[in-house]
Amino acid sequence: MLRKILGTALAVLLATAMPLQAADKAGWIKGLLDSRQNQTAQRLTGTALTATPRIIGGTQAKPGAWPFVVALVDATEPNNYQAQFCGGTLISQIWVLTASHCVDGLAAADLQILVGTQNLSTGGTRISVSRIIMHPRYDSVTTDYDVALVQLATVAPVNATIPMLRSKQSARADAGDRATVVGWGDTTGNATYPAALRQVTVPIVSQTVCNAPNAYGGTITARMLCAGLASGGKDSCGGDSGGPLLIPAGSGWIQAGIVSFGIGCALPNKYGVYTRLSALSGWVKIMQSSIRSSGPRCKTGPGASADSCLSAAVSDASTRLRNLIVDIADEASPEQAKAARASEAAWRSALPGICAYDRATGGETGRLRCELRETQKRIEDLSDGLGTVAN
Ligand code: ARG
Repeated sequence: MLRKILGTALAVLLATAMPLQAADKAGWIKGLLDSRQNQTAQRLTGTALTATPRIIGGTQAKPGAWPFVVALVDATEPNNYQAQFCGGTLISQIWVLTASHCVDGLAAADLQILVGTQNLSTGGTRISVSRIIMHPRYDSVTTDYDVALVQLATVAPVNATIPMLRSKQSARADAGDRATVVGWGDTTGNATYPAALRQVTVPIVSQTVCNAPNAYGGTITARMLCAGLASGGKDSCGGDSGGPLLIPAGSGWIQAGIVSFGIGCALPNKYGVYTRLSALSGWVKIMQSSIRSSGPRCKTGPGASADSCLSAAVSDASTRLRNLIVDIADEASPEQAKAARASEAAWRSALPGICAYDRATGGETGRLRCELRETQKRIEDLSDGLGTVAN
């Protein structure tokens, strides 16, 4: 509550100081985001955001396009148009990928995910959130590591997901390649928010060009990717954050970036800055495979089904542990990967010994309980420090 009051107060303060960025969407989350963005702009340029004279050059999305794109909405505001404050993508039916700056300071209950509609005025389903995971190295001053995961409380009733660009993939996002960004963000740089989903195609820009003195002057890190035109005119903008930057792959698409920040919108040389997924998709995969899924929950007490339930839970945990090792190895150097696999094999062969006492005293049930507990502990140890979890 205190935070909500603070956010609103800050937004009001900044709105009076910077009338050009007046937010015409309701909600404390939007206010909080707008005020943070002004702070980022102040830091980068020494001045507040200024309105751009032209639209950002996009078009309305075709019906049915981008079914994996979702809207982050303020749970306390029932009107979807008013409530939308960021975008996101379904990378599985229970995981939404978005920007850390979109969820910074929010609890899972503050947020809902709108899926299954391109139009904020009609259709779609709101889904509750069970968990928010920000990247542990997300930096709100530099906007480095601007990635977060949102876990849905129930499976999304949408049969469409988007793959992420991985570090070792042959598909790449090279300077000059065309990329498409999708969202419900500002279409003018002056707080004009559309109800219908929009898209714009922009070329990817090299780190060198983006870090030039007339662009971002050295503040673009290896976790960032720039896209846009030197002449300006086409860009993402406020409200698009968290949404995808997509590159064509075969007959479909791969997500190469997440809308992160920019100085103004569509200004010359001030390219749109995106979270570089090829640098961070490893972290995303590791978090996905390590978080305890709603695997079988076994009843204790008398009942013939107890052991079979426990054994299903053990094999579920065991699979998640194996996936976790694969993902960790995938991101590590060859030596680190080899060490991770070796320590994994050693741990597995030690498990019967670790659980020998439980087996001797508790029989098969004791052994299964022990293996479940130890496997879950192992998962937690390995994923320790990989994410900041807000429930
Ligand atoms: N940070 C903005 C948001 O929260 C997105 C800014 C993107 N800006 C840009 N010029 N591409 O919606």
